[in-house]
Amino acid sequence: MTGPLLIERADDRVVAMLNRPDKRNAIDQDTIDALHALCAELEAAPRTLILTGAGGVFASGADIAQLRERRAEDARRAINATAFIRVSELPMPVIAALEGYALGGGAELAYAADIRIASATLKIGNPETGLGIIAAAGATWRLPEIVGGARAAELLLTGRVLDADEALAWGLISGIHPADGLLAAAHAIADRIAANDPLATQYTKRALRAPRHEHPVIERELQAELFDSAEKMRRMTEFLERRARR
Ligand code: COA
Repeated sequence: MTGPLLIERADDRVVAMLNRPDKRNAIDQDTIDALHALCAELEAAPRTLILTGAGGVFASGADIAQLRERRAEDARRAINATAFIRVSELPMPVIAALEGYALGGGAELAYAADIRIASATLKIGNPETGLGIIAAAGATWRLPEIVGGARAAELLLTGRVLDADEALAWGLISGIHPADGLLAAAHAIADRIAANDPLATQYTKRALRAPRHEHPVIERELQAELFDSAEKMRRMTEFLERRARR
């Protein structure tokens, strides 16, 4: 099957590959529609999502040919921002496996992920001001949360593009992997996630993403529910019995 998003499904994960390689995976309306459809599926049946891009590139940005034609009312509809918020709010973790360019809206989609890893070919940044617009699909609030205000300001106000080493040093990605092992590394992270209790994983994500003013109440309530769960009892009993048998 072809389309702007190639999707491979398994029981515990879904891999979605941005697939417009001749446009360097520029994110157009069809891609956004496909992302919404995927989110609907993952909201109904939560699984880890691995996001990646075809042709050695993650995404070169929003589709500039479409962006040029958009007007004020389109900006107010927040077409990309809305989709990326939906991706970030998926119940299970989102892993972005980044290769080559992750620019503009492509970088913002990556910022919406919970975990970002990359190959050494990564070039990530927000050149929007050079095109006469702002990075309005999450960068102005997500990037300071990820790398801190000073670094976010430098990136967004200059449009400077980081390579993989600098992105790692800044904490924008959490690992660099060989290009031919990048997807395997993303799967290894998904394997670790899959070994844990899915509900505890979802609640950890929820607590991690909750605004400061909701803490510490939110984790207390989430934990209260888990303390009474059959799966917690099963997992802890299994641990204790395994030790007792030694
Ligand atoms: N939107 C629409 N089309 C894009 C695009 C984008 N963001 N990025 C690349 N493309 C298209 C090019 O127009 C070109 O199309 P064509 O073959 O029909 O002429 C094709 O993808 C290949 O791009 P090209 O520039 O030849 O590839 P490259 O490998 O030499 O360079 C980039 C890749 C990403 C450095 C370069 O395409 C680029 O700077 N893109 C725009 C990045 C940007 O400003 N993003 C922010 C948008 S908010």
